[in-house]
Amino acid sequence: MAASVSGSSLEDKLLEETATQFFEMVPIRRMKWGNYQFEGSEVGPDTQRKVLTATVTSPLCEKYPPSLSYQRSFMKHFVHKLETCDAEICDEVYEAYTDILSQKEEEDDTLCYKTYSLPYSKTVSLQESVHLVAQGTTGLSTWQAAQHLAEWAIENIDVFQNKKILELGSGLGLTGIVICKHCLPAHFCFTDCHPQVLYLLSKNIELNFISNNQNNDTQNSTQKDIQLSPVNSNNHNDEKIMRKIRRQLSLSADNNPSNDMTDIIEICVSPTTPPGSEEEAIHKELINELADFELHSKLWKKDSVTHVATLKKCEKISIAKLDWESFDDNLLSSYCPEVIVAADVVYDTTIIPSLVLVLKTLLSLTLENGQKPVAYIASTVRHEDTRDQFLFTLGVQELHFESMVPPSEYIFHYDRAVPIELLKITAM
Ligand SMILES: C[S@@+](CC[C@H](N)C(=O)[O-])C[C@H]1O[C@@H](n2cnc3c(N)ncnc32)[C@H](O)[C@@H]1O
Repeated sequence: MAASVSGSSLEDKLLEETATQFFEMVPIRRMKWGNYQFEGSEVGPDTQRKVLTATVTSPLCEKYPPSLSYQRSFMKHFVHKLETCDAEICDEVYEAYTDILSQKEEEDDTLCYKTYSLPYSKTVSLQESVHLVAQGTTGLSTWQAAQHLAEWAIENIDVFQNKKILELGSGLGLTGIVICKHCLPAHFCFTDCHPQVLYLLSKNIELNFISNNQNNDTQNSTQKDIQLSPVNSNNHNDEKIMRKIRRQLSLSADNNPSNDMTDIIEICVSPTTPPGSEEEAIHKELINELADFELHSKLWKKDSVTHVATLKKCEKISIAKLDWESFDDNLLSSYCPEVIVAADVVYDTTIIPSLVLVLKTLLSLTLENGQKPVAYIASTVRHEDTRDQFLFTLGVQELHFESMVPPSEYIFHYDRAVPIELLKITAM
């Protein structure tokens, strides 16, 4: 099976591709491994063991595990593939499968890790919700548009290099973290409005940029050499908050059983936290506790005037709470970004006027060099009407837009059939 492809074996490349999709939690039905590894090739015990050590029994899986249900589906599919090609299944495969089946799913097992592989062996690991929409926000998982914009950034480093960048609706941070790792901006400010999103975003930034978490680019870690440290090596307070967020997400999932993209607008506009419920009680506690996320970590310092929190060990990275519906002009003007980015923020027609007003305010600023800022907004086009309303509102605010050529290299494994549009927006 092992043919040589530019210095490394085909088998190694296929294993890497399988592992990459596993850690990104690509839906099993869309995984590409089967076509390559199982048709007409003999999958012997060595290859089977290699698949295990690249995925479910790897150190990376122990440190940043995909959800247990995903690992189960992966193993089920792997065993099925082996059976259908009449391979003799080795003991280790059955042991690994039984082990995963016997692991008890925590009641509040609503968060998992996704690890995205970037060029040059860089990786980004993010803690994400297993549900697309939870807690009345879409910000607790990573959306295709974020991956699209990150791919585009990797191919257009000049747009971001040495620039001061502001991201709107950052969610869990994939786009921004990729830009910080790949494009070397002068400064990057992540923003969002949702307390849980901001909290998990801060944890994800710490996880990717604080050295004792290993997974940063200065150490150029790979899935093979990653070192083990406790998954949540944070303080007691962090653990308490994470427990509450998990619990709240699990209650929220129970209340919103049909959790798919078609619900995205409905759930966001009217979060269904039943009054007097445990979910509502936890929600209130969390809102208070997360009111100032800086309190939960000595890793951030907060500017008392702008309320922007900066990562002490990497002062090029900041986080701020920014709600498009109640923003402070002075805060936006004081930050004065050269580039604004946002992914999947155009999905709710009721929020479009506020979002466009934020863009108008930012794009109308004049930079020190006399130039105007530029915005790049990537949107999944779910409804033509929503997109048309966004474009119309840009026109009303005298903002100019043009479509960008999509990225040519596929780095992430999102569904390419989903239409995504990337607009460059400037003040006229
Ligand atoms: C669909 S998610 C996209 C998240 C991330 N950019 C991505 O693509 O993975 C939309 C994001 O916009 C944020 N958002 C929604 N309404 C907002 C508002 N009024 N002000 C600021 N952020 C908002 C949500 O909290 C969420 O993180």
